[in-house]
Amino acid sequence: MTQTAAKDQEMNDTTVDMKDIVALCKRRGFIFAASDIYGGINGFWDYGPLGTALKNNIRDLWWKAMVVTPPIGPDGLPLQIVGLDSAIIQNPQVWVSSGHVGGFSDPMVDCKETKKRYRADHLIAYAVSHYMEEDQPELKLIPVFEDGTPVEDIIKKFKKLGLGSSLTDYTAIPYSDLNKYHYNDSDDYGMLRLEIGKSDRSLDKQNAIGPDTKEPGTLTDPKAFNLLFETKIGAVQEDASTAYLRGETAQGIFINFKNVVDSSRVKVPFGIAQVGKAFRNEVTPRNFIFRSREFEQMEMEWFCHPDEAPKWFEFWKEERSRWWNSIGVKSDNLIMREHGADELVFYSKGTYDIEYKFPFTAPGYGELEGIANRGDYDLTQHQDGSGQKLEYLDPVAQVKFMPHVIEPAAGLTRGVLAVLCEAYTIDPDRPSGVYLDFHPSVAPIKAAILPLTAKEDHVPLATKIYMELREHFAVELDIKQNIGKRYARQDEIGTPFCFTIDNESLEDNCVTVRHRNSMKQERIAIDGILEFMRKEMAVA
Ligand code: GAP
Repeated sequence: MTQTAAKDQEMNDTTVDMKDIVALCKRRGFIFAASDIYGGINGFWDYGPLGTALKNNIRDLWWKAMVVTPPIGPDGLPLQIVGLDSAIIQNPQVWVSSGHVGGFSDPMVDCKETKKRYRADHLIAYAVSHYMEEDQPELKLIPVFEDGTPVEDIIKKFKKLGLGSSLTDYTAIPYSDLNKYHYNDSDDYGMLRLEIGKSDRSLDKQNAIGPDTKEPGTLTDPKAFNLLFETKIGAVQEDASTAYLRGETAQGIFINFKNVVDSSRVKVPFGIAQVGKAFRNEVTPRNFIFRSREFEQMEMEWFCHPDEAPKWFEFWKEERSRWWNSIGVKSDNLIMREHGADELVFYSKGTYDIEYKFPFTAPGYGELEGIANRGDYDLTQHQDGSGQKLEYLDPVAQVKFMPHVIEPAAGLTRGVLAVLCEAYTIDPDRPSGVYLDFHPSVAPIKAAILPLTAKEDHVPLATKIYMELREHFAVELDIKQNIGKRYARQDEIGTPFCFTIDNESLEDNCVTVRHRNSMKQERIAIDGILEFMRKEMAVA
């Protein structure tokens, strides 16, 4: 079975379908396609009322864990981390020094016929061995598909091309490697060998049939495509006015290292944290908000003595996994993956990715956060590029050195997706058929106050409770519709608690708490609601 087919099989086995999550996000106001009423714009998303609240909650929890109450370090003392909010557009030289102007690119393949553009490293070519006859050893047709193409679509195209419907007699080859594959007449029937350098009888790219075409030869060779968005500054639209939207929040931190050291009381080791928008002109934005062209990052650069970098690298790997667990992204869906030598950028001294098992990557995983040991690359580049000394003077030892950097770089919007996927729970036993199992700390609405009926004295008492709670938490007072429908709506938006006010409440000063996941109900005193909520919101 191919990787794609295996992935598809696994997708069918899991109960959660990405389409349903996307539909719920639109239906309940979490996430909309950007420019929806104009037909959308590929790679951009708008966050609705609940999506904004969810994103802000995750952001605020990260900020608290980093800047407000940073973790306790290995020596038992609290770490020092300060915040920053740098401009999205900086002097273009920043992106030259950082290496983004020269090297921040993906290999891209264009289709001359459909004008579609694909990431070369996402294309898989299928060399069909049963098409090779002894008297006709040339492979004429090589269908190419995007990684993740459903197996039914692959079979459909095979049939259309007259290649039969069997998906067993083929070799799946990364598109970029096509010309490296070689075969000759003496090979066993259908055998393909990788022989780099021999191209006389190679599987020629000219025979490749693009994902959206019927005729071969429409795909170009991969070309490097820079991901930085360009813009022009000022009234004069000439080359000299070109600037870039930031491709990552990290560079704003590096270029302010000296400003922060000179203006605050931080001493190495310390960190600078920043949350904000980043922009990348991704060749193939896909999988909802997983890979978009405008997204948000939560990055922290930890500046330390070179000798201590390995110790801090280990510390941050552990700390960051713990944090994702603490906001409800469970450890059995997370892995820590070390980058192979071929994935590392040349200056990196090691990178691990925290990866999450998204429904569209299962049974595999997709990156959620990278933790990199960047050495002194960034500060040295900016020192060389700006001509400004960026070394740190140790106030005790009075020696100068260039700090090394450990960087935990998380995606905020990708984090929203992981939290949504983790929370999405199918439950045929309740009217909504589904509920969002948010950790109370990230839930957009923490509790709903529901008078059992809109008549009698339920509403004034419910309003009184609501007016008190709203000072402390995001809560909703919902009066309309029958109680079952109101529970169903709160389940679908992931509200952990519903407080129901009934006739008895007027007598005994108690309400019924309904717990979202178990649907269990218990009576608690109205006076105890605030304390109850405080306990439930705590993050481990
Ligand atoms: N400063 C290092 C850096 O930017 P990265 O791995 O390119 O590293 C960090 O990005 C995180 O930002 C990723 O782990 C991912 O969560 C998020 N991210 C990157 N590209 C993204 C995109 N196109 N859409 C959504 N999130 C993205």
